[in-house]
Amino acid sequence: MPKILVTGAAGYIGSHVARQLGERGEDLVILDNLSTGFRSAVLYGDLVIGDTGDRDLVARVLADNDIDTVLHFAAHIVVPESVANPLKYYRNNTSNTRNLLECCVEAGVKHMIFSSTAAVYGIPAEGAASEDTPTAPINPYGWSKLMSEQMLKDVSAATPLRHVALRYFNVAGADPGGRIGQSTPEATHLLKVACEAVVGKRPGLSVFGTDYATPDGTCIRDYIHVEDLAAAHLKALDHLRAGGISATLNCGYGKGFSVREMLRMVEKVAGMKLDVAEGPRRAGDPPELIARAERIREQLGWQPAHDDLEHIVRTALDWERRLLRQPMV
Ligand code: UFG
Repeated sequence: MPKILVTGAAGYIGSHVARQLGERGEDLVILDNLSTGFRSAVLYGDLVIGDTGDRDLVARVLADNDIDTVLHFAAHIVVPESVANPLKYYRNNTSNTRNLLECCVEAGVKHMIFSSTAAVYGIPAEGAASEDTPTAPINPYGWSKLMSEQMLKDVSAATPLRHVALRYFNVAGADPGGRIGQSTPEATHLLKVACEAVVGKRPGLSVFGTDYATPDGTCIRDYIHVEDLAAAHLKALDHLRAGGISATLNCGYGKGFSVREMLRMVEKVAGMKLDVAEGPRRAGDPPELIARAERIREQLGWQPAHDDLEHIVRTALDWERRLLRQPMV
């Protein structure tokens, strides 16, 4: 049986996908440079410590393991950092993807599943973005991912490789079994920051902007549970294995919550009030970003099973408490 290579599987999303793949008996090889990921997040597969930009290493891993499918998560993901240091993002997210793709073509890899992002849409005019909404990134992070999408499309047109690019909206929550979760030390994401405030890792948090043209003045996002997002990757794999065509698909629920709604839910689940300040807008935040998410249901037969904000918050908070007792290594 050919094996699957999962890059970045020591990180937040990659570790959840690798766990689901391992649970269903897939044979995995993990490639991660452990720059932001953790060895203990790798629950299945053989871990190779190294970089997707290392041509010799990638070629050897593909050949030695008879890899026919690659799931590519390894990337930098902090938007403001991408603005301050764009070349870091173009190297890791774009050049290294190019290297990986070249190695895959040479090794005859058949399928690639790629982590893309809603950041490719920039600030969509209607708030909701379908896969046909024009792409218009507003930061280097979004561009670095969009360029990789384009390479994948071009390579899929020119070679037998087929791919699925999944455009993630706001990924949140953690493994309901409590084994893995978002562990990044300097996280900036709303729910993670709020959970850190609950467990006392930070005194409180700020709402970035209360004067948006939304019902309560704060930004609206489409939060998707990481378990459902991970399941979408397994569906994408089944689709490609069954001979399905290459596709680019949104991953979200098609329903938005405001920053205030999210914080109210955190307070409800935690049973305490948070120290919340109302601050100025954060540069580059679209007022509303919601997925039009019909296509993934139609094309992959994906159905969400965790689309409940309280459940998302509960699993994230359970994980934050676990992290406090037992830091990741
Ligand atoms: N927010 C706060 N206070 C905080 C943190 C966030 O008010 O302490 C607000 C933000 O301003 C935003 C909302 O909460 O309105 C969500 O912010 P996140 O940082 O959690 O997530 P983003 O929507 O900025 O980021 C997501 C993905 C990125 C992707 C981006 C595209 O996580 O990978 O969408 O817009 F690039």
